[in-house]
Amino acid sequence: MTWTERQRAMLAEMGLRVWDAPAAGEPVAASPPPASIAEAQPTPRRVEAVAISVPPSSAVAAPAAITVAPSVVATMDWPALREAVASCTACSLHTGRRQTVFGVGHPQAHWMIVGEAPGEEEDRRGEPFVGRSGQLLDNMLRAIGLSRQAGDTPDPARQVFIANTLKCRPPGNRNPLPEELARCEGFLIRQIELVQPKIILAMGRFAVQSLLRSTAPIGQLRGRVHRYQGVPLVVTYHPAYLLRNLIEKARAWDDLCLALDAVEASAAHVARGA
Ligand code: URA
Repeated sequence: MTWTERQRAMLAEMGLRVWDAPAAGEPVAASPPPASIAEAQPTPRRVEAVAISVPPSSAVAAPAAITVAPSVVATMDWPALREAVASCTACSLHTGRRQTVFGVGHPQAHWMIVGEAPGEEEDRRGEPFVGRSGQLLDNMLRAIGLSRQAGDTPDPARQVFIANTLKCRPPGNRNPLPEELARCEGFLIRQIELVQPKIILAMGRFAVQSLLRSTAPIGQLRGRVHRYQGVPLVVTYHPAYLLRNLIEKARAWDDLCLALDAVEASAAHVARGA
């Protein structure tokens, strides 16, 4: 790959320096030397049917939850889905949350980012990826001209919708449990159906497990375009992992380029009327 000045600026946005600056037009390897840090192996997860409990909004003292069937979630519009998430008590995470973290971004964004679960800052602010990982994610998105802020550009092709596999913060930022993922996944599935993204970026092993039903390591799944319900899906490292393993940032950059290529390829496919 040849790094143009624009790409160099993008890499700088991501906090990536290209050490051996080539003469203009001279090709530079996109990947760093082989990583010395092994990636964590995912633990297998049993995927269960989604059962979502939503208390009636008019309930005063009724502790009993109403179970909303997955088929009902599958027909919800944005306001109904938002309300269902906000009042969900389907797993024990609801007892420790300050608020649910629904997701953020343009409702018809071409890009959908799927992360893991809210952390402390997200639980406090009600928005995904607003802590340190979120700053890195925003820089990565900016590097390829994307934004989560609707005000930045009205063009949905430049907009992202960011959601997590879990809508509530696990205590102490522990990993999501299989049952929590299973109970929450109907919400994510419906979000993807409503957004109808042109590309999904699955960040980290829990997003991958939810969407691809795969427990393979990220390192094995990245570098090619997968499909989720017909939508191109690119696997990449979670920003929190990148913060701990700086050497992997160049690979994350490759993943973003792959996702860009996939979007352009499918747009060209549509333009040809194929
Ligand atoms: N990590 C995630 O996966 N999601 C968030 O919202 C924040 C941190």
